[in-house]
Amino acid sequence: MSDVNFSSLRSTSRFTRQFNLTCPIALAPMAGAAGGALAAACAQAGALGLVGGGYGDLDWVQKEYNKAFESCEPALHPRLGIGFITWRLQQEASALDWVLDQAFQPAAVMFSFGDSRAFATKVRAANIALICQVQRLDQLPMAIEAGATVIVAQGGEAGGHGMNSQMARGTFTLVPEVADWLAKHSPETQLLAAGGIADSRGLAAAQLLGADGAVIGSRLWVTKECLALTSAKAQSVTAHGDQTARSSVFDVLRGLDWPHPYDFRALRNEIHRQWEHQVAELKHYPDNAQQDYAEGLAQEDYTRAHVTVGEATGLIHDMPSAVDCIRQIATESERRLKGFG
Ligand SMILES: Cc1cc2nc3c(=O)[nH]c(=O)nc-3n(C[C@H](O)[C@H](O)[C@H](O)COP(=O)(O)O)c2cc1C
Repeated sequence: MSDVNFSSLRSTSRFTRQFNLTCPIALAPMAGAAGGALAAACAQAGALGLVGGGYGDLDWVQKEYNKAFESCEPALHPRLGIGFITWRLQQEASALDWVLDQAFQPAAVMFSFGDSRAFATKVRAANIALICQVQRLDQLPMAIEAGATVIVAQGGEAGGHGMNSQMARGTFTLVPEVADWLAKHSPETQLLAAGGIADSRGLAAAQLLGADGAVIGSRLWVTKECLALTSAKAQSVTAHGDQTARSSVFDVLRGLDWPHPYDFRALRNEIHRQWEHQVAELKHYPDNAQQDYAEGLAQEDYTRAHVTVGEATGLIHDMPSAVDCIRQIATESERRLKGFG
């Protein structure tokens, strides 16, 4: 793959300069969905391509990480990185160790959902940029102590995992508050907004709120290169933003033991409605429901299988290539921002 030239966007932020990007966008490291092809396409489009290392499955990480680097010309390698779910690394960190041992070093490693300080030391020792995703202000001191080059402020609108409804903040207030905090306590640390950003309005707004750019998940999940099933992505194209919910229902159905206070936003389908007010019971007696869910997955029946998108699903109306998607968001956002002088 070769570069797409967005020369007019080149100087937009500290973030684009740090990673030699042409637009201030990072692909969210979506577990199992952001594979090598999607990360490479994002790098080609001028964005930071973060492979979704997720739960740290070594075979998957080796395959998709290698694919990302092999799919890109060497000049684009500084736009490739990987993300991991931090609490899971406390149980199994071989995939992180493998990545840090590669000749092709990642430009960045992103950690989310837990205390990343122990793993951050290894990343910084390898001279790799550290990105830490937070959901609340009170997580910032720990992320700064870990040595984050970039903070991602994730609002509760986001697809996939994040803070539960009691604890989550909205992107629109979290981002400027984090920007103010960083300006006071760690002005050299960059800031990306995440949660609900799926078009040029969202990207421009994120920058106006004080972010150096945006992490985009749901919108890039519904692209050709994403590893999710086409039938699942198609569900997002027709859904609107009222049709998602946060809960632990799909974590229990998948047998994932996520720690408090994190849960999961996805389309609120029939199996979700069936269990959303009985999560404690579901946890105690999951077998039948898990079988029901597994059958739904096998049959691509989305009344039972999950579709992992956030509120931004209402802004997603097609399934383009990642390059076309990023090109449109970045170009239009630049035009909108010019209007603000
Ligand atoms: C399908 C999917 C999987 C995700 N998996 C991860 C993950 O493994 N690690 C992570 O840090 N964030 C993950 N996220 C959250 C993203 O990092 C990001 O915060 C979120 O996608 C931003 O909100 P948006 O979906 O509205 O763009 C995931 C999001 C989605 C949609």
